[in-house]
Amino acid sequence: MEHIHPTFDKIIGRDAKESLLGQFSKVIWLTGLSGSGKTTLAIALEKELYKMGLLTQILDGDNIRSGINNNLKFSLVDRNENIRRIAEVTKLFLNCGVIPINCFISPTVEIRELAKSIIGPQNIIVIHVKAPLAVCEKRDVKGLYKKARAGEIKNFTGIDSPYEDPLNPDIVVETDKLNIEQSIEQMLTVILPLLKTK
Ligand code: ADX
Repeated sequence: MEHIHPTFDKIIGRDAKESLLGQFSKVIWLTGLSGSGKTTLAIALEKELYKMGLLTQILDGDNIRSGINNNLKFSLVDRNENIRRIAEVTKLFLNCGVIPINCFISPTVEIRELAKSIIGPQNIIVIHVKAPLAVCEKRDVKGLYKKARAGEIKNFTGIDSPYEDPLNPDIVVETDKLNIEQSIEQMLTVILPLLKTK
């Protein structure tokens, strides 16, 4: 790019910041249907990691879409752009040694591959937060499924927009079968050895 002079090589590096914090920075990426439990699990997971002295940052679809991505809607093109920007933001947190916990539907294989290619495959732990559509629809925490069925919301994931299961997730958490404590325990077993330096 013309007239752009990055200074990445002059600033204190990620390794030094990870050492400072006593942790390895990897993003914990939760993908799943709306209402599957991504945000609930992220909040509970963050509390556990905090107690262990690990520094995290939750990035969540509804929050990001009301700020940095407030010009994007829910076509697949916009969802791609949503995740592309989020992946770039995630990289900034990783360079700071922080552990991002990302809660995004991130509905297609292509979208998740895009995120992985930006972030680096070695830096991402993919968790499929899985519950059948019928269960998510019954929970309908935000009342959005009802609106989607009534045709008031278009391109709603699982109704008239696709959700493709991840092909090789690091963890699958079945939130219709496990309670929050059991889900967190399952996640920590895999995650902790990857995040803790000691
Ligand atoms: S993603 O598909 O681009 O990854 P993201 O996770 O950022 O989606 O946003 C999903 C959130 O937006 C949902 O939790 C829901 O609250 C809200 N939402 C509003 N409209 C839609 C829609 N058409 N499809 C899915 N989620 C929607």
